[in-house]
Amino acid sequence: MATSQAAEPILDIAHLGNIEILSPKPAESLDYFVNILGMENVHTEGNSVYLRGYGDYATSTVKLTAAKAPGVGCVSWRASSPQALERRAQAIQDSGLGIGWTNGEYGRGPAFRFNDPEGHIMEVYYEETAYEAPDNLKSKLKNLPQRYTGRGINVRRIDHLALLAKDVASNREFAQDLLGLKLREQVRFNDGQTEIGSWLSPNPVHHQMAYVTDVKGGTARVHHFGLWVDEQQDVLRAAEILMEAGIFIEAGPSKHNNSQGFYLYHYEPGGNRMEVYSGSYLVFAPDFKPVTWNEDERGTGVYWGAALPDSFLNYATPDVEATPEAAAAPKVPIFDTH
Ligand SMILES: [Fe+2]
Repeated sequence: MATSQAAEPILDIAHLGNIEILSPKPAESLDYFVNILGMENVHTEGNSVYLRGYGDYATSTVKLTAAKAPGVGCVSWRASSPQALERRAQAIQDSGLGIGWTNGEYGRGPAFRFNDPEGHIMEVYYEETAYEAPDNLKSKLKNLPQRYTGRGINVRRIDHLALLAKDVASNREFAQDLLGLKLREQVRFNDGQTEIGSWLSPNPVHHQMAYVTDVKGGTARVHHFGLWVDEQQDVLRAAEILMEAGIFIEAGPSKHNNSQGFYLYHYEPGGNRMEVYSGSYLVFAPDFKPVTWNEDERGTGVYWGAALPDSFLNYATPDVEATPEAAAAPKVPIFDTH
């Protein structure tokens, strides 16, 4: 696999479409997503609840699934056209990482499922049902899919997720070469070789997916899920909402050096690390030069504010130390192919 981005960019992936979050405490997690984060519960099916932010155009962008252990289920990417979906499916199939076609999740058409080299489950789809708000959630704004409810933190949309990998480089290359994601920033050891983390995106959003080294040697784990609010003030307000709700704040509000993100990390009741996120910067240049930080430059990842705690480096879900058997179990059922 090539180690650099293709000379001709692959524009087949439009954006991160949906993240499946696994929770061993689904009722408590659902209460958090609806009443603390302020997302809408739009559908229930089997062991899953489908949720959305008020600014998400799609019917659903988060799938909360009951599971034995916290972690990430399927990461869904929307293709830019039906032809783009077919091209990506074929390319991924040819790479040997394909799983097969599914009939599609709630609100979406057929999807091609696959693994990244680490073993995370992903899919790409094209058909998407635009959200149609019920009367009580219609906005006065014609261009807002759903009214601003002002409930809790009131996140606007999903933004990104950070996955763990034993080998960041091979997963980053996969994201570049087979999904067409663009590399934005990297952290490498001072030898300039070994990658500690890479941040990637298919669109001007700074990063929609990151790969970071799994220091515990787990498999297909997730570091955090990032949800967007429009202003830094919203992040500060979120801290007070979390404190009043008795939710553990791990780090922030503060600002990262890489990505320039304004962050607030905390754990949802199921144990997954969540980030309320704003700031950062958009990337428009087609010839953007990825920014590489060495260990000294990156430091603790903080631009200003307190250093990130040890737990930020050592804890991820599923927690291999707490539930080693769960960490090794299949994360989500694999659907029949067609
Ligand atoms: Fe993040």
